[in-house]
Amino acid sequence: MAKRRRIGFVDGGSERLKYHRTLYFPPRFLWGTATSAHQVEGNNRDNDWWAWEQRSPKRPNSGRACDHYARYRSDVAQMKRLGYTSYRFSLEWSRIEPKPGKWNHRAIDHYRDLIRLCNKSGIKPVVTLHHFTNPQWLSDRGGWTRGSAVNFYLRYVRYVVGELGDVVDLWITVNEPLVYALQSYLVGIWPPGKTSYLQTFRVYWHLALAHRRAFAEIHRIYRERGWHNPRVGFTANTVSLYAYRQHSLASWLFIRVADFIWNHSFLVLTGRSRHDFVALNYYFHYRLKTAHFRTLRFFVQAREEHREMSEIGWEVYPQGIFDVLLDYRQYGLPVYIMENGIATMSESKRTRYLVSYLKEIYHAIQAGVDVRGYFWWSLMDNFEWHLGFVPRFGLLKVNYRTQQRTVRPAALVLSEISLRNCIPHRMLRVLGHSIALPPLVKPSRRTPVRRP
Ligand code: FCB
Repeated sequence: MAKRRRIGFVDGGSERLKYHRTLYFPPRFLWGTATSAHQVEGNNRDNDWWAWEQRSPKRPNSGRACDHYARYRSDVAQMKRLGYTSYRFSLEWSRIEPKPGKWNHRAIDHYRDLIRLCNKSGIKPVVTLHHFTNPQWLSDRGGWTRGSAVNFYLRYVRYVVGELGDVVDLWITVNEPLVYALQSYLVGIWPPGKTSYLQTFRVYWHLALAHRRAFAEIHRIYRERGWHNPRVGFTANTVSLYAYRQHSLASWLFIRVADFIWNHSFLVLTGRSRHDFVALNYYFHYRLKTAHFRTLRFFVQAREEHREMSEIGWEVYPQGIFDVLLDYRQYGLPVYIMENGIATMSESKRTRYLVSYLKEIYHAIQAGVDVRGYFWWSLMDNFEWHLGFVPRFGLLKVNYRTQQRTVRPAALVLSEISLRNCIPHRMLRVLGHSIALPPLVKPSRRTPVRRP
């Protein structure tokens, strides 16, 4: 029998702790990237975002975006070359149904071809049905503040699932319903730019109804047509939350409430049995500063605390994803990380971010969480909603003038991880050095600079 090489252990009586030098992921783990239609396709002229962008000269315009609608063949070929095994993208409802009840068959043919190409290239398609945008005609009818939106959405779901269900089995009904409701109806920085608690709640409630009914409908269609079992879920924008003052009871209570709202409320509203998996997008880590309701600034700002963050001020905190994953274990469902990534211009930081978050996910799997896939946001740089084209989230760099794509170092790192289904030890060493932190405070002439 071959002698097993012991890699390392801590001698503590009978308990021996192994140090794994190579972190293996479960078989058939999905390694993918994610995009959404309006952010990459270009010229989505019939939706509410397009109309919103035209309304004020101060707002960034999505325009041609990444021209992915025309370039999807070469984009899929690139994913295949990189050895990615899955691709999450969204269907643009306003392309498929530009006028109420009028179906655009060319748009469906387009998505069918994209899905066919993915399947042929060994890339499992994950299809999002609603990712923040709505047909303008739906907005004109009051959008998601009205119960009728649920019926319109279901009619659209019935149509697309009937058309594409034979080639797709992973569906996302709604992307980040809470973020959508808050940004569009409370903060008011996304269309239709409202600031009302009541409307926010109505929208959230209707999205929950839409998910419940779409879940049942998709399963019914598959049964009727004799297709194999679909898997249906939604994506939550999850947040890891901590109290700044660890011993304050008020903070602790507030954290419990905030955790419920952000991480669990949609699952509770829709019912656990209406989910085949739980899917989380993870970017945010918050420390609670004050527990009063007079202001929306409850949280410590990463910037003020001089924490490491992305170029748009989102804190880099890999341990948070471990905590959220462990919290999600309670549902006893398979888990997918459907989005995770960083807006940065520093390539060493992007790579380190990727490896450090994956390492935490590995630990969560070891701790018993049934994680089935990881999707980097995003395949390529794209239109980041109200922030326009400035944030660079892509594994592929996009030159927006020529639409040329360039493979970034992190794309190759994810490629190797995907091909070997592990994080090799060599990569873990990335975590030990090359920490690039931009200066947070500009030294003024009066600040004495200490030399080493
Ligand atoms: C997520 C959104 C996605 C993108 C990333 C950066 O919340 O789902 O469209 O904007 O953030």
